[in-house]
Amino acid sequence: MSAEIIYGRELAEDIRERMTKEVADLRELGVVPGLAVVIVGNDPASLSYVRGKDKASKKVGLESNLIELPEEVSQEELLDLVDRLNHDSNVHGILVQLPLPDHINEDEVIEAISPSKDVDGFHPVSIGRMMAGKETFLPCTPLGILTMFKEKEISLEGKHVVVLGRSRIVGKPIGQMLLNENATVTYCHSRTKNLKDFTQNADILIVAVGKPGFISGDDIKDGAVVIDVGVNRIEDGSLTGDVDFESALEKASYITPVPRGVGPMTITMLLHNTIQAAKQLNQIPQRSS
Ligand code: GUN
Repeated sequence: MSAEIIYGRELAEDIRERMTKEVADLRELGVVPGLAVVIVGNDPASLSYVRGKDKASKKVGLESNLIELPEEVSQEELLDLVDRLNHDSNVHGILVQLPLPDHINEDEVIEAISPSKDVDGFHPVSIGRMMAGKETFLPCTPLGILTMFKEKEISLEGKHVVVLGRSRIVGKPIGQMLLNENATVTYCHSRTKNLKDFTQNADILIVAVGKPGFISGDDIKDGAVVIDVGVNRIEDGSLTGDVDFESALEKASYITPVPRGVGPMTITMLLHNTIQAAKQLNQIPQRSS
């Protein structure tokens, strides 16, 4: 068996085309969705990532403001900036790129963002609402994965989903969101014993550990759906995922590549959340695009 490759980039392009029309309609109503992206320091990977977010936002017609702060910025200065953005009526979504430098308290910064502008879905209010199965901003990478399942009509109900990784950004929320879709979810992490016993029993395997080639064809069940969230830069400068693509391709029924898989969907969901935030503020009904 050779898996169908889910090209997130193609799905993302279709969705962004629909969004471009939606944003044009909103602009006609006088609503210009605005996103503020804040980055502290000059880590090349993070910078390239936020510049990608900024460019994609502008391309669909959002007003995007990329704010680059020096590594030495104080906690107080960063909190002041968040406060200003909270009160800026042209800003509907605020994203502070993680990780932040060690001298900054990440939780305090996230909690300072108004939940109504929390397009990352990281605020405890957003997380609480998600846990309760209520409508809220959902974190972008998990929402991108969920959208892939929906677009590919991959059913989730009763499926055994195994999530490798328990980060705030991906692992924890994707498990909860799939539980909300009636999947049976197992979380595995660096302390899990006999990992293969879990991975080989997964109908859907989500890998978000940040280790190149961590999972190979031997670790997965025939016909499994394999979602590779890893983005690892290897020695030759290219990007690779957490899954050994060639061997997994032979066993899986669906698999996402790296690059061109989950990554483009993540950015697309950020745009989606920002548009939703602008609509909520202006009391424009949601539509299912
Ligand atoms: N760092 C890596 N991914 C993300 C993300 O989705 N949001 C933020 N704020 N930081 C990140």
